[in-house]
Amino acid sequence: RAAECEGYPHFMLKEIHEQPRALRDTMGSRITAAGDVVFEELKMTPEELRGFRKVVIVACGTAYHAGLVGRYILEKLARIPVEVDLASEFRYRDPLLEPGTLAIVISQSGETADTLAALREAKERGCRVLAVTNVVGSSITREADEVIYTWAGPEIAVASTKAYTTQVLVMYLLGLLFARAQGLMSIEEAAEITTTLQEIPAKVEEILEQKDLIRGLAERYSDREDAFFLGRGLDYAVAMEGALKLKEISYIHAEAYAAGELKHGTLALIVEGVPVIALATQDDLLEKLLSNVKEVKARHGTVIAVCLGENEDVAGSVDHVIALPEAPSIVAPLLAVVPLQLFAYYTAVARGCDVDKPRNLAKSVTVE
Ligand code: G6P
Repeated sequence: RAAECEGYPHFMLKEIHEQPRALRDTMGSRITAAGDVVFEELKMTPEELRGFRKVVIVACGTAYHAGLVGRYILEKLARIPVEVDLASEFRYRDPLLEPGTLAIVISQSGETADTLAALREAKERGCRVLAVTNVVGSSITREADEVIYTWAGPEIAVASTKAYTTQVLVMYLLGLLFARAQGLMSIEEAAEITTTLQEIPAKVEEILEQKDLIRGLAERYSDREDAFFLGRGLDYAVAMEGALKLKEISYIHAEAYAAGELKHGTLALIVEGVPVIALATQDDLLEKLLSNVKEVKARHGTVIAVCLGENEDVAGSVDHVIALPEAPSIVAPLLAVVPLQLFAYYTAVARGCDVDKPRNLAKSVTVE
């Protein structure tokens, strides 16, 4: 097994460590020397790109969570309205797809039955369909109008890691592509963001070096029955993925909440010692997030915060801090998810779970 996993005890840990390489490959030649974004594989002209009035992103599972990040990014950078939907909901809800809607389907395998059905639904209703997928020649690539590959390489562990981060990266690149096509961003402004993206792989490497700290936290809380993940804005999208990772491989009941929703229900479940992972990477929302953290602390929950760089305000409010390398808040999802992947991994190992093949789950769900 260790040989198959190139020295790692599980595919999941190997794949977590492959993220810097996967991210570099996915950016590759799509970022030009001048810092602009180009997708040579796209057949759409800049005029066609400019013509879209709305984007719908459709996916399942982890890919859906990448879509949630995508919504923030596309709306923020390109000021285009974006809806994100679960493929299993989208296909049955008689979606309103007016002319000029671009459908983006995201799927690691390119084979998920619901996502494929959603793609067909969108096409039948006259949408252009762009697929973001990791498997060359998969069913989804054969039916989509346009295909962008994530170059994550084969992902074996059921719990998706490197596919997610590369999908998220593609969302940033698409946001920039749209923003440039719409004339909303100069090449200099685009270059500022692409430079930041190019620095991400090295920063992910730095996070991976902190794995003993994360393992310690995971082991310490591995006997709990529940865990909560809180965040606002982009952090909320990352919280969703963090909770999914933990529940799928460690079987701990984990829920993600938009931090502002805490008082509308979840707070009733916060009792002494319940671990709450607070994502605290969004500068403009930090104060609000910290007031939610105070509500958790007042009920004696245990708070683990994930923040950018050393932050005394955060450190003073929580029990444990995982400090990410410094980076602008907008790219934080690409960093913040990594400790959550490691936290889920080490928790599952501590609980003796079958990390790569969790019970009842399949890597690719090709039947409904
Ligand atoms: C399964 C996998 C998940 C994955 C989801 C969507 O449930 O266990 O890890 O996120 O399918 O898969 P896709 O291949 O479409 O991204």
